[in-house]
Amino acid sequence: MSNQRTFRIAASILSANFARLGEEVETVVAGGADLVHFDVMDNHYVPNLTIGPMVCEALRPLTTAVIDVHLMVRPVDRIVPDFAKAGADIISFHPEASEHVDRTIRLIKESGCRAGLVLNPATPLSCLDYVLPELDLVLVMSVNPGFGGQKFIRYALDKLRAVRSRIDQLGRDIWLEVDGGVKVDNIAEVARAGADTFVSGSGIFSTPDYAETIAAMRSALARV
Ligand code: DX5
Ligand code: ZN
Repeated sequence: MSNQRTFRIAASILSANFARLGEEVETVVAGGADLVHFDVMDNHYVPNLTIGPMVCEALRPLTTAVIDVHLMVRPVDRIVPDFAKAGADIISFHPEASEHVDRTIRLIKESGCRAGLVLNPATPLSCLDYVLPELDLVLVMSVNPGFGGQKFIRYALDKLRAVRSRIDQLGRDIWLEVDGGVKVDNIAEVARAGADTFVSGSGIFSTPDYAETIAAMRSALARV
């Protein structure tokens, strides 16, 4: 069953060289990344500060790859239309950061983007109870949000299995993405737990040849 799933690699540009960001995006997409994962941090919801809609807009003309915006900001709603205008394809947010989760999902979709909900390591699955059918993507965090280069939290595998079974029960094509500590050597195990979309930042950008690393990830996935 699992090998019928489509696997996608989302390169997190958080670990790219920000002084050459456009070039980094072009290289990683040419190297086989399916999505450009765009981490937005506000030094409020998470203790770090990164990039916003202006950078998304600047990168948009450089690639036709899916731009996968991961909002780690509070409030969420004010910034959603800005990212839609800047060319985001997917916008995901944390339920803890939104006052009205259903409203935020609707806002993202009305803005013309696909909507994702992000579950922190300690966030219970009950937040999916009513809204799962409204979502295009569920993102399971396998580290605490805020920084690249952290260690994969093992119990995220149990959470992936649980979300996978909810999605399968529903019978909809909702992507199951995982974010944090994913590398060549654990990507197959993470896929076996049910993920189909794999965010990797340091796992790609800290290696000398992005194409080679992504190819190694794909060949590990081909054996799942
Ligand atoms: C963390 C970010 C991740 C981060 C992952 O808050 O959401 O996308 O870039 O980095 P790695 O793959 O290095 O764990
Ligand atoms: Zn992320």
